[in-house]
Amino acid sequence: MSGPAAFDTAIIGAGAAGLFCAAVAGQRGLKVLLIDHSEKVAEKIRISGGGRCNFTNRDLDIRAPQKHFIGDNPNFCRSALSRFTPADFLALVSKHHIAFHEKHKGQLFGDRSSDDFITMLVSECDAGGVTRWQPCAVKSVHTSESGPRYRIETDRGSVAANNVVIATGGLSIPKIGATDFGYRIARQFGIRMVEPRPALVPLTFEGASWEPYSQLAGLSLPVIIETGEKKSRIAFHEDLLFTHRGLSGPAVLQISSYWREGEPIRINLAPDVDIVQALQHAKATSKKLVANELAALVPTRLADAWVAQDATLKRPINEASDKSLAQLADRIARWPLVPSGTEGYKKAEVTAGGVDTRDLSSQTMESKQPGLYFIGEVVDVTGWLGGYNFQWAWASAHACAQAM
Ligand code: FDA
Repeated sequence: MSGPAAFDTAIIGAGAAGLFCAAVAGQRGLKVLLIDHSEKVAEKIRISGGGRCNFTNRDLDIRAPQKHFIGDNPNFCRSALSRFTPADFLALVSKHHIAFHEKHKGQLFGDRSSDDFITMLVSECDAGGVTRWQPCAVKSVHTSESGPRYRIETDRGSVAANNVVIATGGLSIPKIGATDFGYRIARQFGIRMVEPRPALVPLTFEGASWEPYSQLAGLSLPVIIETGEKKSRIAFHEDLLFTHRGLSGPAVLQISSYWREGEPIRINLAPDVDIVQALQHAKATSKKLVANELAALVPTRLADAWVAQDATLKRPINEASDKSLAQLADRIARWPLVPSGTEGYKKAEVTAGGVDTRDLSSQTMESKQPGLYFIGEVVDVTGWLGGYNFQWAWASAHACAQAM
């Protein structure tokens, strides 16, 4: 009877982090097996960035990379991100002659298609002699008494490996292969977890209080959105999108990663004008309806929806009271809302929480269980919208591949 297939390293999950880790480890001379249960690798890269892959972000500050990331220990990501930077990944992209462009706020996208990045990663794996098994289901991962440290049972047979890297990502978008495999492995080896939750996700609102706004579905406008108080206050100046069930768009996706159930968010719907002064000036100089004057400051549909809710505003602006105009200005500049929930993992771009960084080395991604590593989104490190999550996948994969 032949024994298990022997490798230095078995990597489970052939997404962004798993593919890059396999390529770097293979090119360092390790014998690497990369396993994925899906037929195709890197489905999330394929659908990312609207099919163009926002693969990194030029605004990532190498001296303080943690400011674009959240997690129970925001400083954990610092070491890996400062040792493998956006410039390092760009060098690889340039080596493969992939044309790219910069969009707003340092976001870098491929010119053509996300497939270019998948092809690049697969060819880097080939250059490192990486063996790929997919689709392949992993039945169990156990330590071994003799020989290599780990034994993995799969539906293609047994594997013996000294190192096991878990790169199975988070829970978002289950229909393209997301599972809780990484979290189960962590628990099996006594590694702590931070409760996972959907992040970069639309927020929902229920009940009669949302009724006046549901008709605004499809409307998009720049806002400042914030949550938290004093030291924990965080704000984003981005576009907001009204949907049938609530709010989406980059502003809302960003704030959703910080929002906790039951907490309010506040939105400034006219961040680029002094709304109090503008309404006072209009009252002194105009006889137009309040709705028409407001429509000069915010989109017409929004102005109409706002004024429709207050009978004292359905009149020419010179006849509106100072008090009702002041209240209107206050609500436009500081609209307080308590979301009832989120659209959940089926719409979330990422999963916040995950494997607790207290049980991982920030230098190597090795867990307190020798030879067991966790990289990418499965770890409790979540980036802002804009290419930061892929940069974490590349950087954590690189740190791990250098250490094995
Ligand atoms: P990833 O999810 O990429 O890979 C995990 C792999 O593990 C998958 O191939 C999966 O099949 C496999 N797997 C899971 N369970 C398994 C099991 N039990 N056995 C075997 N294999 C298993 N980020 C960004 O920076 N820029 C962007 O433009 C976007 N855009 C974007 C759009 C959308 C719609 C989503 C959902 C997400 C994004 N993201 C993003 C986030 C980004 O895609 C994400 O953070 C990275 O793909 C995470 O990389 P990982 O390799 O950790 O997981």
